[in-house]
Amino acid sequence: MSIASMMMSSLHVTASSAPSLHPKTFYSSRNASRRPTTCIRSSGDKSGEEFPLIKLDRRNMLIGIGGGLYGTTLGLGHDQKAAADPVGPPDLSSCHAARDLDTTNTTDYACCPPYTFPLPNPESIPSYKIPKNPILRKRKAIQMMTPDELYKFESAIAEMKKLDKTDPNNPWSFTQQAQIHCAYCNNAYYQYKTDKVPLEIHFSSLFLPWHRWYIYFFERILGKLIGDDSVALPYWNYDNPDGMAFPKAYDNPNSPLYDDLRNKGHAYARNYVDLNYGGEPYTPPPQKQLIDENLCYLQTIFNQGEVDPLQFIGCPIAAGVQWGYQYAGLLESLHNSVHQWTGPIASPNFDMGNFISAARDPIFYAHHSNVDRLWDIFRNCFLKTELETTSTDWLDASFVFYDENKELVKVNVKDSLRIDNLGYSYTSMPLVWKDFSKACKIRPKITCTATAVEFGSVPKALVSDPIRVLVKRPNSSRSKSEIQNTLEVVMVDGIEVEHTSSTRFDVFINTPSDNSTHLGDFVGSFTTVAHGHKHGETSDGNEKKLGLKLGITSMVSKLNAEDAESLVVSLVPRMGPVVVGGVRIEQIEKKTA
Ligand code: C2O
Repeated sequence: MSIASMMMSSLHVTASSAPSLHPKTFYSSRNASRRPTTCIRSSGDKSGEEFPLIKLDRRNMLIGIGGGLYGTTLGLGHDQKAAADPVGPPDLSSCHAARDLDTTNTTDYACCPPYTFPLPNPESIPSYKIPKNPILRKRKAIQMMTPDELYKFESAIAEMKKLDKTDPNNPWSFTQQAQIHCAYCNNAYYQYKTDKVPLEIHFSSLFLPWHRWYIYFFERILGKLIGDDSVALPYWNYDNPDGMAFPKAYDNPNSPLYDDLRNKGHAYARNYVDLNYGGEPYTPPPQKQLIDENLCYLQTIFNQGEVDPLQFIGCPIAAGVQWGYQYAGLLESLHNSVHQWTGPIASPNFDMGNFISAARDPIFYAHHSNVDRLWDIFRNCFLKTELETTSTDWLDASFVFYDENKELVKVNVKDSLRIDNLGYSYTSMPLVWKDFSKACKIRPKITCTATAVEFGSVPKALVSDPIRVLVKRPNSSRSKSEIQNTLEVVMVDGIEVEHTSSTRFDVFINTPSDNSTHLGDFVGSFTTVAHGHKHGETSDGNEKKLGLKLGITSMVSKLNAEDAESLVVSLVPRMGPVVVGGVRIEQIEKKTA
């Protein structure tokens, strides 16, 4: 069976038959006139043009019922262009079992939190008041923790795990904490006030702030459990050679930090994480090369993020937009590799290798503490504006958590942006990748003899050989000012993956005049982690396709390629079945945010 037909058949698996618990509610058109988010997506979009406004009037809402609010009624097809409300807190009453649709695994995962009834309407959940504390919690690199600090942290995790046995419905218990992650990313909730649009906090700019709040409360609960507010999450410092190895503290079977469901082939103490991990069979590159490649990858994403912050954090999405209509940020994509490398090889890849179960492994919180830290470093050292985006779709998006007093509270993105306000800090470690002088020269040359041709209109499966595509640039030989005012990006469209597999492909660009077989320079990767639901599963059970957007502005100048009318874009398959629908280059006018 070909990959494409395999994928086709998976499209027909019935979506979770969740009971319709929530009343039909209507989309508010209240904010339909404010500026929409710019995140160009499909080939139909003109470069640099903002999404046209679509007024969501009540009549459209009514027609929308039962047909999937977007797409069908508004005829948006593949383009989700509506300006709408920011993603709101989940409709708690819509919580239903998340389902792993892997045919070999028909288990339902009950991820819903132990709410007490009657369930509050999201609007009546109080907003969280950030305590006005001095900085109390100092998050340290694991390898720098003293035995006392580690002991304190382990005792707190042990207390949390104890609750699993003594009081399993306690929202503070370790399992209940892990379920929060499952619920928010495996379609257990529908978005409030939408017609069953699943709530998913991965694959968009919700990723970083949501996980920041998630581990923030987790950390505060740890403090409560041992009556010591100074207890802080460690971070897995894999951006630094000294912390790149799988942390020893998490690999002691007698420690509460241990988890048995890992890839025993490499996720063990003193073995270095591979951010370029491409699945099994796997022979790690020599350690020095592995370190350099990791540092190179980090440098690449920060440099691209400096040019275009939305690439770093991901694309904002508005409420009611089906998952899969946005782009994951570069940091999220890098983060996926750590999940893939740590989780077990065999499907369903529990724990770290599947979002349903990832937070059951204590290393998850050390991983996310580092992701959170890398975002903070980005904001402090690379972001040239005050905010990554002024889009209210991002800033006003909100979530619900149990706080350290077991109260349900509402938090938003805006309030998450400054960690000093949140009462924790990261002790600094050298940013080796930042001034990594060898830059990325270390990456071994990948060659391929296939000639680059235009992509054409037929989707292609990425199997074992790279696909080399000759892609036209909208404009070439531009003036200096034209170049300065635009972001040049490679867009890969119509990406289909199986939700039960983790996937990855790498993207390289080169000039066509370089007749060599060298694929050129690495510009980024597409990665997904196995999920308990179909990627982009919609309320009508249809599969939506994903996209990838990678900045090449600085690479074009590095390659001296401004005069080239086309570039050779190479897609190198690394892991899992992937089908790609097209490749194009866009030159997007920079917005003055
Ligand atoms: Cu929600 Cu590391 O993923």
